[in-house]
Amino acid sequence: MRAAKRTLLITGGSGYLGRHLTVRATDAFQVYTTYHTHPRQIKAGQPLPLDLTRRDDALRVITTLAPQAIIHTAAINPGAGSEAEMMRVNATGARYVAEAAVAVGARLIHLSSDVIHSGRHAPYDDASPPTPLNGYARSKAAAEAAVAAVGPTAAMVRTSLIYGLSEIDSGTASFVARLQAGQPLVLFSDAVRQPIWVESLATALLKLVEQPWAGPLNVVGRQVLTREAFGRRMLAWWGIDTRDLLQTARAADISDTIPLDLRLTVAQAEHLLHMTFPGVDEVLAQAETEGRVPVKLGVGRKRNRPPETLCPRSGRERRSTER
Ligand SMILES: NC(=O)c1ccc[n+]([C@@H]2O[C@H](COP(=O)([O-])OP(=O)(O)OC[C@H]3O[C@@H](n4cnc5c(N)ncnc54)[C@H](OP(=O)(O)O)[C@@H]3O)[C@@H](O)[C@H]2O)c1
Repeated sequence: MRAAKRTLLITGGSGYLGRHLTVRATDAFQVYTTYHTHPRQIKAGQPLPLDLTRRDDALRVITTLAPQAIIHTAAINPGAGSEAEMMRVNATGARYVAEAAVAVGARLIHLSSDVIHSGRHAPYDDASPPTPLNGYARSKAAAEAAVAAVGPTAAMVRTSLIYGLSEIDSGTASFVARLQAGQPLVLFSDAVRQPIWVESLATALLKLVEQPWAGPLNVVGRQVLTREAFGRRMLAWWGIDTRDLLQTARAADISDTIPLDLRLTVAQAEHLLHMTFPGVDEVLAQAETEGRVPVKLGVGRKRNRPPETLCPRSGRERRSTER
């Protein structure tokens, strides 16, 4: 007789990462997943409503289910709420999830961000303490602290810009929306990140469920790219004609709350999880080799599908994409 699958709760199954992760997780787990306002965005798993601002509800939902593991992806991202809201959902909400995880003895993987760092002392290793510069970063740093205080065995995955090749990421989607509206799009030439392919991240998170790793762990792509270079590659992938609307600027000239150098070391996670985290060019080259795109990278190429069909949430663009 086959053993029953273990129960995995993925919060935020209606979000970008959650949609990919739930689909990937169903092979190995009985998957339950949560939504806040977009139940129809869920692709796999049993949907459950969850409002992370309501402690009693959060504890009831999770303790009633009593999953063996929880991957906590739900959060408010930059541009989607005030700093106070981000603190309530991202930090206090993460604490409720950690409390419930401890109550039922669930393995907890919490999603954090590279932007908890100031970008002034890169490269950052896994144990580097947070030095947040802006409201979103403060909420994610506070979330890490809350999760660690409640459940010291939880893993906290510090990741970077998440992108995929089959569904446009929300950052690129917001760029497309600007371009379609005929508005100039400014991309930063001095802010570097290590974008992560959503499929690599999903694999890493599911592997991490099986590992006893506690505390922060960097899970980012190997390739360091400026925000401009990454934006151009994604726009090219999606066949977007940037016309003459794309401009470059230095983030340092605009604001002192944008971290500039977010290089993170990945050796620890690659060793622990027995995998590598390919960079953007490697992922794109592999896709081309597999015939998944008939185009060479280049800006301004037109493909057949209009961009709006590539973005399931185009009515819900974010004002800022620096998460
Ligand atoms: N995307 C990136 O580039 C990036 C980079 C670094 C770190 N991260 C982290 O990775 C995780 C996933 O990001 P993502 O881009 O997949 O996020 P996303 O697409 O914005 O999805 C956010 C999810 O959180 C849910 N949510 C929002 N407010 C909630 C509330 N009050 N109660 C319960 N659920 C709520 C949303 O539910 P509804 O849609 O149903 O309302 C949605 O499922 C987040 O923790 C984020 O901080 C993301």
